[in-house]
Amino acid sequence: MRGTGGDERAGPAAVTGPFRAGWAETDLRLPAVPGAAWAARRRSAVSERFPGERVVVPSGGLKVRSNDFDYAFRPHSAFVHLTAEQGTSAVPDSVLVFEPEGRGHSVTMFTRPRSPRGGGPNEAEFYGDRRHGEFWVGRRRTLSETSDALGIEVRARDELEQALGRNVPTRVLRGEDAHVDALVPPVPGADAELVSFLSELRLVKDDWEVAELGAAVGCTVAGFHDVVGELDHATRLARGERWIEGTFNRRARLGGNGLGFETIAAAGAHACVLHWMRNDGPVRDGDLLLLDAGVEADSFYTGDVTRTLPVSGHFTDVQRRVYDLVFAAQSAGIAALRPGARYGDFHDAAMRVIAEGLDAWGLAPHGRTASTSPSELYRRYTLCGSGHMLGLDCHDCAGARGERYADGVLAAGHVLTVEPGLYFQPDDLTVPEALRGIGVRIEDDFVITDDGAVCLSSGLPRGADEVEAWMASLR
Ligand code: GLY
Ligand code: MN
Ligand code: MN
Repeated sequence: MRGTGGDERAGPAAVTGPFRAGWAETDLRLPAVPGAAWAARRRSAVSERFPGERVVVPSGGLKVRSNDFDYAFRPHSAFVHLTAEQGTSAVPDSVLVFEPEGRGHSVTMFTRPRSPRGGGPNEAEFYGDRRHGEFWVGRRRTLSETSDALGIEVRARDELEQALGRNVPTRVLRGEDAHVDALVPPVPGADAELVSFLSELRLVKDDWEVAELGAAVGCTVAGFHDVVGELDHATRLARGERWIEGTFNRRARLGGNGLGFETIAAAGAHACVLHWMRNDGPVRDGDLLLLDAGVEADSFYTGDVTRTLPVSGHFTDVQRRVYDLVFAAQSAGIAALRPGARYGDFHDAAMRVIAEGLDAWGLAPHGRTASTSPSELYRRYTLCGSGHMLGLDCHDCAGARGERYADGVLAAGHVLTVEPGLYFQPDDLTVPEALRGIGVRIEDDFVITDDGAVCLSSGLPRGADEVEAWMASLR
């Protein structure tokens, strides 16, 4: 059923006539959002950093997929971080405003009020707006229900323009809400500083965030279990990769809000394509399946885990040789995780092991000079870095400045992936034929603690023997 051309079908016909009478009130009894108190602390940090200035953080809105259908709404991660807004409750076009007041700020969320039946000012939206109307997309909270759930003052989005009218120095998280961008003249330096501040505020996760990441990773692990149980069936299908993808995605929707990123289900040589998301190939007995996937929890925190599995249940000798080298590299990377270590240490440790291993195999890529680092020398086979911060975004904190992230040091509360890989392209003439078309990545998620690191994804086996035993137990 489609509502076309402004929803003529549902609108006028429904608003007039007996349709309007005989409906009960539908007050929602909402529990407080569990992360709300933590989000309040983060808002205090924003307030302290920008005294006397207005700060505007939009959630973003719906994005058109095609014609009159949108993608599922996913609020901007900075907005989520500062509100603890959850999954399906999030309302498009919401905007968080920090208004300078006294020595701090008053913080208000501007959002869409409910559009109930019953003749109020928003009844037309109820029937007539297929993107936001309750008749079409379901009940959303009233303003006071939102305020109670999130512990924030809430006003109608219609009042935003007036609220931004007072002449105060204003920083905006730009590119998310065209109306807000148009209302406030850009101040490029100040706006860019806001981006990096909001990103850096997310670097150290608090206890609630670590727990949410643990839950997201736990559900991700369950998705990998599901996939192993479906491997035999996948080998019987022309597009077995799609069956793998669908199996994981079902778990993500069941246990969380959805996916943290599009599932990578890469069998055979597809594993050599870092972001193979077409997933339209077969899954053949004897090949490896590289599955890189993450469940996004209802709180929007995501897991990001990769296992490379022998479809038959047993690695061939050459597959195991590659796997064992990646495993050793990942183990060296993991051993380098501790507070105070340089962020780059775990990557360097993993690359040293890869370089020694490939040297021992006699693989000597062109271009070696005395000063070439292992990670540059073997980039042809390793392709990318060995990890990244993880949180509300899979590649979290991307706006942080170098000195706080890539060139900085690890600290307790950082959550990151360690995911070295080796990828021998099927057409790479620099490697022996037996290696061509083999791609292996092993990826786990870690939280840095006061004295080391804890693996959040330890529910999955890592070593080749353990992987084989685990697969045998599930099939
Ligand atoms: N899944 C994307 C990544 O591992 O970075
Ligand atoms: Mn990753
Ligand atoms: Mn990944």
